[in-house]
Amino acid sequence: MPKWLEDAVFYEIYPQSFLDANGDGIGDFEGIIRKLDYIRNLGCNALWINPCFDSPFKDAGYDVRDYKKAAPRYGTNDDLKRLFTEAHTRDMRVLLDLVPGHTSEEHPWFIESARAEPKAYRNRYIWSDNWIYWGNSAVRFVAGEAERNGVYVINFFKCQPALNYGFLRPAEPWQLPVDHPDSIATREALKDIMRFWMDAGCDGFRVDMAESLVKNDDENKSGTAALWRDIRAMLDAGYPEAALVSEWSHPDRSLKNGFHMDFLLDHEGGGYRSLVRDCAFDRGGRLTADASYFKKDSTSDITRFLGQYMPWYENTKNDGYISLITGNHDTPRISRNLSPRELALFYGMAFTMPGVPFIYYGDEIGMRYLNLPTKEGGYTRTGSRTPMQWNGGRNLGFSEAPAGELYLPVDSSPDAPTVEAQEKDPDSLLNTVKALLKLRHTEGDLQSKPNLEILSAKKGSRPVVYRRGSFVMGLNPSAEDARITGLPVSNRGTGVFSIGNGSLEKGTCTLGPQSFVVWRV
Ligand code: NOJ
Repeated sequence: MPKWLEDAVFYEIYPQSFLDANGDGIGDFEGIIRKLDYIRNLGCNALWINPCFDSPFKDAGYDVRDYKKAAPRYGTNDDLKRLFTEAHTRDMRVLLDLVPGHTSEEHPWFIESARAEPKAYRNRYIWSDNWIYWGNSAVRFVAGEAERNGVYVINFFKCQPALNYGFLRPAEPWQLPVDHPDSIATREALKDIMRFWMDAGCDGFRVDMAESLVKNDDENKSGTAALWRDIRAMLDAGYPEAALVSEWSHPDRSLKNGFHMDFLLDHEGGGYRSLVRDCAFDRGGRLTADASYFKKDSTSDITRFLGQYMPWYENTKNDGYISLITGNHDTPRISRNLSPRELALFYGMAFTMPGVPFIYYGDEIGMRYLNLPTKEGGYTRTGSRTPMQWNGGRNLGFSEAPAGELYLPVDSSPDAPTVEAQEKDPDSLLNTVKALLKLRHTEGDLQSKPNLEILSAKKGSRPVVYRRGSFVMGLNPSAEDARITGLPVSNRGTGVFSIGNGSLEKGTCTLGPQSFVVWRV
């Protein structure tokens, strides 16, 4: 386990929208470099950059045409290497986004593979042996698009043909086993890409759709799991400081099979969703119902979240880290349904839990979700991908280009939050995030390590109290005062961070409405 993960806090950057340094309307590597000090001051010491490789951008870059070439619109490979170096100078790390499951349909491997008689890469993708196929519906096919007498498997959009890592339980002659030389060749090609960027100076990868590689896998995904253990062995041998975080949201599978971190998403069981976006909107985008735990007026308790989180945490705490996120490029920004105060309370919890937290750019100032038409395959996700709001200047400081030439429009509301305004306000969300992260970096007990004890969490009751080493956290998301008695803490707590107010004495904790307090005990 790389030691730097013990105190890592990540910042996710959607490069299109972060900072446009050359005035062409879209973000770039130079823009990220210029803001490294901002990110470091915020309290984040690691980055995850969404795919920044050559691509036709039909899925915002998750359709890679050349894994070894930076997308020209962001800069060159040398610019990206300079970003690694500038980050390292500031003791920061950079994870690239690895898309192992599929390529763009414009990748040279696929173009060759789709010929009537491919000279190479015949099995780099999954092709049936006839132009028509009615079988296995567990995977999705595209038919009628290629000269080749076959249909091919896709992973997500039509433009994303699935790479062939083999089938755990092949059911047809054209379904290769995982140990077929061509399945192994795909895996080796993936390792080659990883080594290429590790050698260029990156610090690891966020892995897209990590669970999707081996087809006809079993319920526990044991075929895909074995593949990741093999990849991890390669990293451990050659790059022991490299980190891998999976888009899997199944820590009991990912963390036991090669990954150092796994995101808690709202895929299975809805733990993340129950906290911050258990809500519904009407067609006009108005909130019609919200049962999220952090919503002041909801009646939800924390047990739905803990019911999913705790068994995973207990089962994997010696294997790796569960990553709580403020949001990401696929989820609607939670400022859509939560107020700044509600966001602050959520961040209070997210940044004082074990594991490695991730902040999505702009969430630190409560950037809003915008209702926008789709861009680069974003659909409803587009509204979470708008330009970062730096200041009150032209295009909110994102770009010098004419407004009509921006990748996406900036938030035009007169009260759009900006970094500049929030830096001046001691009570802003931005300064709250900074204070929380500063505390986390100062106190080893509040970093990634697995020292969590839930002291009070009851069904039907709003507050929660938890302990990590010599710190106790009390959280009350409701509009009413809360009092929790009988806590196994005899010391009087000294407050070291608070939103709202509270006290901790003789095993009794009081919390004002919408409060989050950290006590040293
Ligand atoms: C998950 C990524 O986060 C998402 O943005 C992308 O569209 C799909 N995987 C397909 O790669």
